[in-house]
Amino acid sequence: MEQILAPVVFNRHLTGDYWLIELEAPTIASTLKPGQFVNFRIENSMAPYLRRPFSVYRVSQDRRRLQVAYKIVGEGTRLMKETMPTGGLSDIIGPLGHGFTLPEGAKRIAVVGRGIGIAALPTLVEHAANKGVEVHGYLSARTRDNLVAEDIFQEYDFPVHTHSDQESPNSLVTDPLKAVSKNTQFDALYVCGSNRLAKVVHDIANSQNIPAEIAMEQHMACGFGDCHGCVINVKIDNEGTEDTAWREVCHYGPVFNTWEVLHA
Ligand SMILES: Cc1cc2nc3c(=O)[nH]c(=O)nc-3n(C[C@H](O)[C@H](O)[C@H](O)COP(=O)(O)OP(=O)(O)OC[C@H]3O[C@@H](n4cnc5c(N)ncnc54)[C@H](O)[C@@H]3O)c2cc1C
Ligand code: FES
Repeated sequence: MEQILAPVVFNRHLTGDYWLIELEAPTIASTLKPGQFVNFRIENSMAPYLRRPFSVYRVSQDRRRLQVAYKIVGEGTRLMKETMPTGGLSDIIGPLGHGFTLPEGAKRIAVVGRGIGIAALPTLVEHAANKGVEVHGYLSARTRDNLVAEDIFQEYDFPVHTHSDQESPNSLVTDPLKAVSKNTQFDALYVCGSNRLAKVVHDIANSQNIPAEIAMEQHMACGFGDCHGCVINVKIDNEGTEDTAWREVCHYGPVFNTWEVLHA
């Protein structure tokens, strides 16, 4: 983990409500694992006071640059757009947290993402592709122009299903996953950005007796386990006991097994 002042390569509109910032950050990009995140300091006097956490969306092939796709939801993200121009500097800490795990010998996985939760998935897709694993994508958003990352699946010629509430308000992106998983063996499932979709993914994984992981989002401060500001209640084993414990999402996660977090 390092704190660096990273030169901004560009900071431009991506699609819909999303922006994309690219930073020159070789020391972070070179060691980053899929699903890890970075914590941005937003320069604007005292507000927002706390850093803001973001998944790394993509890493360049030479592993010198990283990209973050961000949705403007409040003051911090509005200031990311306003105060981090091309040629400027961005103060980030990373890589942070524990990311996704790919089972040894996996041949095929499926990833399910909704909204900006999708931003955690492309680094996993690339990592899996580099290991010869086939990845099926299931991407969902409120509106079609808020769907990100479809192009990444197309780059690898991987099957990708998309869904928007606007076009199909009465279905879920997991409907085709349910159908496909009846005839297709996946070795693991991954989900981000929606508790509703996470429950469906968890059930499919249980019925196939395969692991499923979820990338959690939580309000954060330090981002590395010191302030205890991001704890969630997790189940501590999957052997039938109901014992739970409080765990920092930034340190133990943000990626958890679905059985750890979907127990309530
Ligand atoms: C590990 C991790 C990875 C993330 N990756 C991304 C990413 O790749 N792209 C992206 O756009 N966002 C991501 N987020 C969410 C991002 O951190 C928040 O959107 C951002 O901090 C909002 O800052 P703000 O000052 O603009 O909004 P605020 O003014 O702080 O909040 C605006 C609204 O967003 C809600 N909100 C803010 N932060 C969070 C949060 N962490 N979890 C749930 N709700 C929140 C608030 O409750 C409020 O309703 C991630 C969060 C975590 C914990
Ligand atoms: S944000 Fe400080 S412990 Fe997680």
